Amino acid sequence: MKRTLITSALPYANGYIHLGHISGAYLPADIYARFLRISGNEVLYVCGSDEHGVAITISAEKEKVSPQEIVDKYHYANKEAFEKFGMTFNVYSRTSLPLHHETAREFFSDFLKKGYLIEKEEEQFYDSFANMFLPDRYVEGVCPNCAYDKARGDQCDSCGAYYDQLELKNPISIVSGKTPEVRKTVHWYFEFNKFQEYLEKFIEDKKGIWKDNVIAQTQSWLKAGLQERAVTRDMTWGVPLSGIPGVNEENAKGKVLYVWFDAVFGYISFTKIWAEKNNKDWKNWWQDEETRYLAFIGKDNIVFHALLFPAYLYGKGNYILPNNVPANEFLNLEGEKFSKSRNWSIDLKDFYIDFAEPQYNDVLRYTLAMNMPETKDADFTWKDFQQRNNNELAAIFGNFVNRSLQFIHKNFDGKVPELSNKYKDLYFDWQKISNSENADFSKEFIEKYSQNDYDVILSLKKGIDKSIELFNRFRFRDALTEIMNVARAANKYFNDEEPWKKIKTDREYAAKTLFVCVQLVRSLAILFAPITPYTSSKIASILNINIYTGESISETNEQNYWKNSFIPDLEQNHIINDTVILFAKIEDEIIAKQVDKLGDKQSNKIENDEDLIDINDFQKIKLKTAKILSAEKVKKSKKLLKLQVEISDSTRQILAGIAEHYEPEYLVGKTIVVVSNLKPAKLMGEESQGMMLAANHDGKLCFVTTEQDMPSGAEVK
Ligand code: 2FM
Ligand code: ZN
Repeated sequence: MKRTLITSALPYANGYIHLGHISGAYLPADIYARFLRISGNEVLYVCGSDEHGVAITISAEKEKVSPQEIVDKYHYANKEAFEKFGMTFNVYSRTSLPLHHETAREFFSDFLKKGYLIEKEEEQFYDSFANMFLPDRYVEGVCPNCAYDKARGDQCDSCGAYYDQLELKNPISIVSGKTPEVRKTVHWYFEFNKFQEYLEKFIEDKKGIWKDNVIAQTQSWLKAGLQERAVTRDMTWGVPLSGIPGVNEENAKGKVLYVWFDAVFGYISFTKIWAEKNNKDWKNWWQDEETRYLAFIGKDNIVFHALLFPAYLYGKGNYILPNNVPANEFLNLEGEKFSKSRNWSIDLKDFYIDFAEPQYNDVLRYTLAMNMPETKDADFTWKDFQQRNNNELAAIFGNFVNRSLQFIHKNFDGKVPELSNKYKDLYFDWQKISNSENADFSKEFIEKYSQNDYDVILSLKKGIDKSIELFNRFRFRDALTEIMNVARAANKYFNDEEPWKKIKTDREYAAKTLFVCVQLVRSLAILFAPITPYTSSKIASILNINIYTGESISETNEQNYWKNSFIPDLEQNHIINDTVILFAKIEDEIIAKQVDKLGDKQSNKIENDEDLIDINDFQKIKLKTAKILSAEKVKKSKKLLKLQVEISDSTRQILAGIAEHYEPEYLVGKTIVVVSNLKPAKLMGEESQGMMLAANHDGKLCFVTTEQDMPSGAEVK
């Protein structure tokens, strides 16, 4: 059986994994890995944390901890979240390990020897207060293209332009906040241009096989002409250059490999780590032409995996190259881009706080799979999560499993029903049904059993065959739709066969129906396993059988369980355990609570943007302290009190709606705050020459006063 090596982009150990990441490079790879394993293929699924790079050192400086502490925190948190999500990596390692450093340095050294790397002196910003060269993200300034004033050293977040950091206007070091100076430094450049011709051919051969977005992006790079790329940086966190055979030690001081140069070698070094631990040969996976390699990524990583990594692998020689780089587009959340700073995100670890039961993880996997951004950006909404659960998983899949098994418990003693003589050949006839039409056989089958039997078994056959084809084309949504269609057909079958009626009139017929149903329950549990593995295991334990859900195992399963899910494998009279509800209904309140959590918190955001005023608006209002000289009720008004107040040397009459809260006598002598430049107005026939300030909450009212005694007429600002 063919070996398939699968990798997912290595997430930076600089933040928590969110649902956008999951649906881009992780869930599709996991579904595919499980599908292949269930189908009897040998799979190695490799991933781990990307622990180098400037983003990590900046976080460390901000949080005043070491980079190691940052990567430890996020590596373990993400590893745990991935485990809960049911990711079936064979290895989840990290780029800060010595074996990884060694592997990346070996590639660098080899490229030096072969002349693919050249040393170049260049000018770069230097922070003389912090005594360091400033890698791109350590400088901010004005974008040379659009004048955005928070542009990063290498790229503008506003207009997307890429430029050389020296082109940045008014540069500021983010370390010291000072203007950096320009100094000379040496860097190593990978001669990407030398691989132009080879990569053109490489990509040409993938046309019609790889996704259009990947072909389009790589071709536009090739058309523009590949350029030399710096693969070193002036910083201390990363894979050090010093000591690499062939490197000029003087120039290598204080330099590390650029994170994007070392990270891709993580796929190889992690394989070595896995191999060491499991007593296997890593070379089988990277240096054997028989191995098929698939690199799952998000669309922002295309150039690194579809052009640069292949150039490195080819440059080194004796390595296999990716057979495919299935890149997904982006997932949005409730119609907007994921943004941690705007709290418009759902971190995977937070999902488990409110949805701790594993069945919800399957709902999440299913919803994300059904909204996978395979060909264009897609959207995750909580409403959809609820509907996918209530209307599909619960109403179709769960419902079919439940009604079938309950019926068996009620009417057949909790055992797979026995086929009467009339139907005893069903087990064999079933396996003869195939997609290719055989009119005589179909007619015979339908006469012997029923049209419904024929239709549902054919649906199962089609579902299996189509899902295989679609999975292998990385069309996960469509594959999953085919699988759900089998569940739909099964539900329809139960309805059309009406066993609740037949049990009273033709028990043998009802037994045949439920025999078919329970076999279908098993088939569905296998077919749903890559997407809802927990549910499949649960069904397996109810059915009292084992079902392999595609988790990573040390010895490859030789059987093609996927294809065999067509076979009615449960024996007559096999005992079935009590059934349980697989997918409980998700109520509106649960969903509303989740939607509410998104966005800036109400506690941080007191007013709506459109209600904001500027300082000039505020300064128009004159607030002054005033002393109450007298107070009395206003005739025929329950609410109003008439106050005579002193403001500096003058006296004013103010009507205040506080009669239900204060006795007039209590107020005399008190200091209050009034709006003194309000145009006079008439209330209940009385003139009011200002307004008294009071705080009002939940029916309670208190007038505003000064913390200590103040003369009247003092300005309040
Ligand atoms: O975009 C990212 O999150 C990168 N850390 C992906 C690296 S993938 C590979 F190069 F290792
Ligand atoms: Zn710009």
